[in-house]
Amino acid sequence: MIQTQLKELLLQSLVHELGGVLVYRTALECVVNDDLREEWEKYLAQTQKHVALLTAACQALGLDPGELTPGCQVVQHTGKSLVVAMKMALAAGDPAAAQIVACEAVMLAETKDHADWELIGECAKALDGEAAAALQTAYDEVEDQEDEHLYHTQGWCRELWLQSLGLKAVLPPPEEKRDVKSAAEAQAAREAR
Ligand SMILES: [Fe+2]
Ligand SMILES: [Fe+2]
Repeated sequence: MIQTQLKELLLQSLVHELGGVLVYRTALECVVNDDLREEWEKYLAQTQKHVALLTAACQALGLDPGELTPGCQVVQHTGKSLVVAMKMALAAGDPAAAQIVACEAVMLAETKDHADWELIGECAKALDGEAAAALQTAYDEVEDQEDEHLYHTQGWCRELWLQSLGLKAVLPPPEEKRDVKSAAEAQAAREAR
C-alpha cells in the first residue's frame, strides 16, 4: 500500500468527521420533525465518537492528527460550505425548506463519510500487525453506524421532498422503520414503500 495515500485517507477522514460535527449542529438548528431531530442527535453523538476513534487510529499509526494537508483543506472547505448553505436556508425564513436543505447537507456529508470508512476497512484488510488492528478496531465500531447514517438519511431526504411536493410521503421513512443497514436493504425498503 502507498503509505502517503493511507495517511491522506486517514487525515481527510478525520477532518471530514470534524466537519460532520458542525454539519449536525447546524442541521439541528434547521430540523422541524421530532423523529428526525432524535436521529440527528444520535448521529451527532456517534460522529463525535468517530472523531475520537480516528484521532486514536492516526496516533497509533504515528500520524499527527492535527496535520492539515492540502487535501484536508479541501475537505474542510466542503464541510464549511454545507454549513453556510444551511445558514442561508435558515435565513430565508421557510422552516420546511431549511429542513430539506439540512437533510441534503447531511446526505452529502454522509456519502463521503460512508465512502471513507469503506476504504478504511479495505486498508485494515491490506495491512498487518498493530496498524491493521488499530484500523480494524475503529472500523468495527463505526461501520454499521455509517450504513445507518447514509441509508436512513437518503430515506428522509426522499420522503421530505415528496411531502413538500404534496405527494404521498412515508414519515419516518421505511429505511428507519426497517432499520436498514445495507444498500440491498435500502433498495428493498424503497421498493416496498
Ligand atoms: Fe462518521
Ligand atoms: Fe456518519
